[in-house]
Parts: sequence; structure tokens; C-alpha cells
Amino acid sequence: MSDTMGKLDGAVAIITGGARGMGAEHVRGLVAEGAKVVVADILEQEGRDLATEIGANALFVKLDVTSDESWQAAVREAEAHFGPITILINNAGIAQEKPWLETTTAEWQRVIDINLTGAFIGMREVVPSMQRSGVDAVIINVSSVSGLLGVAGEPAYAASKWGMRALTKVGALEFAGSGIRVLSVHPGFIETPMTAGAPSEYYDSQPIPRMGQSAEVTSMIVFLAAEATFSTGSEFVVDGGVALGARSTT
Ligand SMILES: NC(=O)c1ccc[n+]([C@@H]2O[C@H](COP(=O)([O-])OP(=O)(O)OC[C@H]3O[C@@H](n4cnc5c(N)ncnc54)[C@H](O)[C@@H]3O)[C@@H](O)[C@H]2O)c1
Repeated sequence: MSDTMGKLDGAVAIITGGARGMGAEHVRGLVAEGAKVVVADILEQEGRDLATEIGANALFVKLDVTSDESWQAAVREAEAHFGPITILINNAGIAQEKPWLETTTAEWQRVIDINLTGAFIGMREVVPSMQRSGVDAVIINVSSVSGLLGVAGEPAYAASKWGMRALTKVGALEFAGSGIRVLSVHPGFIETPMTAGAPSEYYDSQPIPRMGQSAEVTSMIVFLAAEATFSTGSEFVVDGGVALGARSTT
């Protein structure tokens, strides 16, 4: 452990989908700032390996975000190990690119269950722990630029990510009295296992014409958790400018 002061010393975080991709980078970034972090994921091997590599400040807990019981067990285990939770990052998610007319109801439901209902249950199960902590706390919901724009070919994914904004705004109002801020983060194209193989046309006409790196999203998340103390219910975009729309061709 480092003796230097971190921006998140004393914090206890749960990061869903923390085993790989952006979630794993957030785990490393929060631990580097002094937080104790629960890596919560259905991916057991990757999650355990990451927690083992980090050491005493990380704990892997198997979590399926769609299950009430799984959340309740994860919160109990996290609290028993590190104490009450002060940061929740609802990052677990799956992509689904499928035209509307080809999307079955079961496919729609699976995306909504993981990407949106998972965060709803998580907030309901974690807020009482935050209230027990006796200190200010923060919930960061990972949405997307697909939660800011209409994007053809992903009705379920876009609905889930717009829904994350609603959870953020309602939560910010409901939990403000408990000293809990609730914020949404909107990444654009970020290089992770989710976007592996994405063609460069997806991003080469952006104002910043490249894929983003997970660490660039982690920097925003650390800032929001540690320093954005007058922000709640609001949206933070990390997208290389893609949400600005098309550039003029004239
Ligand atoms: N990569 C991008 O370009 C991009 C852009 C915008 C938003 N996002 C969002 O960022 C988040 C992280 O995405 P990523 O790119 O790192 O993807 P990823 O696929 O690498 O990671 C997602 C993680 O979520 C976990 N997960 C899936 N279902 C779960 C469940 N039921 N319970 C618990 N964990 C579960 C996976 O096991 C995985 O570890 C997602 O919510 C995604 O929608 C990604």
C-alpha cells in the first residue's frame, strides 16, 4: 500500500462488470487513489485474477446484476470485508446491434434486464449501505452516447442507456437528502472487448478521430467520485466529440 494521500482514501466502491474492459480499468484507477474496491462480475476467473493481482484493496464477488439475491449477497459480503459502501459504479452491460424488426422480445428483455434493471436493483440494494456509512457517497451510472442520441440498429441498447439517465435523475432527487450524488457518464467508442473488431468508419469522422481508451473514462470517473462535489443528476460525456453530430462538408 502507498503512504501517499489518494483522492479516494477511505472510500469503499463496488464496480459492476469490473472483471474486464472499462470496469477493470476503473478498479485499478480507484485503487490507485486509495479506495477499497469490490470487483463484481459474472466472469469469475477474470474477476478473481484481477483482485488477486491488486491484493488486499480489491475483493472479487460474483454478482449477476439481474438478480435481487445476488445483489443482496454481494452487498453483505462487501460490507463484511471493507465496511459500508460509499461508491457504486453501475458499469456492467452488454451490447446488442440488431435492427428493430429483427429484435425478438427475449433479446430486448435481456438487454434491459442487464443494462437497466441491474442498475435499478443495485441502487436499491446499495443505498442503505451508503446511508449506514455516515459519509457522503456517489453513484455513477455508465450510460453511453447511445443514451444521448438516436442510433439506428440498437433499439434495446439505446433504450437501456436512455433509461440510465432516468435512474440518475430520479436517484439524484430521491437520495440527495442522504448525501448521495448520482451522475451518468456517456462514453463514445472505447477500445474494449465489447468493441473488438469495430470498423474504423465508426469513429474516423469524429472530431477526435480515434477510439477512446478505458483510462480516459476512468479519469472522468475518478474526478466525479472525488472532486465533482457540486454536481448531481448530470451527464458527463467522454466521446471524442461524436455526440456533436456531423461536421459541415461545405
Ligand atoms: N466500449 C464502448 O465503446 C462503450 C461505449 C459506451 C458505453 N459502454 C458501456 O460501458 C460499460 C462497460 O463496457 P465495456 O466496453 O467495458 O464492455 P465489456 O464487455 O468489456 O465489459 C462488460 C462487463 O460486464 C459484465 N457483465 C455482463 N453481464 C453481467 C451481469 N449480468 N452481471 C454482472 N456483470 C455482467 C461482463 O462480464 C463484463 O466484465 C457497459 O455498460 C457498456 O454498455 C461501452
